[in-house]
Amino acid sequence: MDLRLAPMAGVTNAPFRLIARECGAGPLTSEEIDGRALIEGNERTRVLAQYLSEEHPIAFQLLGGDPDVLAEAARRLEAAGADAIDLNMGCPVPKIVAKGQGAALMRDPLRAAVIFRTVRKAIGVPFTIKIRGGWDDRTVNAVEIAQTAESEGIDGITVHPRTRSQRHTGRAPWEIIASVVDAVRIPVVGNGDVGSQEDAAAMTRATGCAAVMIGRGALGAPWIFRAESVSRDERARIIRRHVELIEAHLPERLALAQLRKHLAWYSTGQPLATRLRPALFQAPNAAAIQALFWEAW
Ligand SMILES: Cc1cc2nc3c(=O)[nH]c(=O)nc-3n(C[C@H](O)[C@H](O)[C@H](O)COP(=O)(O)O)c2cc1C
Repeated sequence: MDLRLAPMAGVTNAPFRLIARECGAGPLTSEEIDGRALIEGNERTRVLAQYLSEEHPIAFQLLGGDPDVLAEAARRLEAAGADAIDLNMGCPVPKIVAKGQGAALMRDPLRAAVIFRTVRKAIGVPFTIKIRGGWDDRTVNAVEIAQTAESEGIDGITVHPRTRSQRHTGRAPWEIIASVVDAVRIPVVGNGDVGSQEDAAAMTRATGCAAVMIGRGALGAPWIFRAESVSRDERARIIRRHVELIEAHLPERLALAQLRKHLAWYSTGQPLATRLRPALFQAPNAAAIQALFWEAW
């Protein structure tokens, strides 16, 4: 099964992506990267665009609404080694949609089509999109957007079928994924509420999708990408490797934040988790954070 790690802002940076790959994840995707900030040389955005050579094949996901800005950002990412460029058409954050970006592109099919055409012409690597079911209950237009995308030469589509109004609430309506699969010939990746290998198989059967993308189900559990069960010792080894990668590859402040967040997720289900979490967020440095975590492990 082709299982992939879903892009998650603030989570799927190089260390976590590589851990997912080492556990068996297929092609990787960066978290969303603001196209304009990238072109303007913003330092935090530059860090977001960093990756490790072992991560190939890796797609970089762009966020934006201006076709020319997105095309220039896509060109630069291609020059930096991107194996594919993905367009974010799903981000629900009010500040983002107010600018006509992310999920706002679902209700602006004309602008979306111009972006598809402009970026497609600008790059040689595959260009994919990640969409929602639609903007809201009254405008479920994933199929129309997917057909436009196919006719503009888009190479693949990931469908997270909730509408923007649904955010992360309610069940992800997998039947929308199936209707997109039926409507286009390009590969469709299904996404939404997959929390196990069994769920992924069920989604594949129910929708006919070419691959399955897992987001929240991989938080604190990157071994979800392993077909076989993973022992407690093996989990500990994977966590240690993740910590090493965070410390080796992220700037210090970001590294601390990532250690806190990921170790809190790894503690899910541990007897001491509820007491451990606040302590992880108060601990002053990396050594203290790790000591607390392993004491409770
Ligand atoms: C913390 C968080 C950050 C996310 N950031 C992004 C992002 O940068 N780009 C994107 O396309 N989707 C983003 N998503 C959406 C996920 O990629 C995915 O579509 C969604 O979580 C549904 O899949 P799941 O049920 O497997 O989590 C994010 C989701 C979460 C929980």
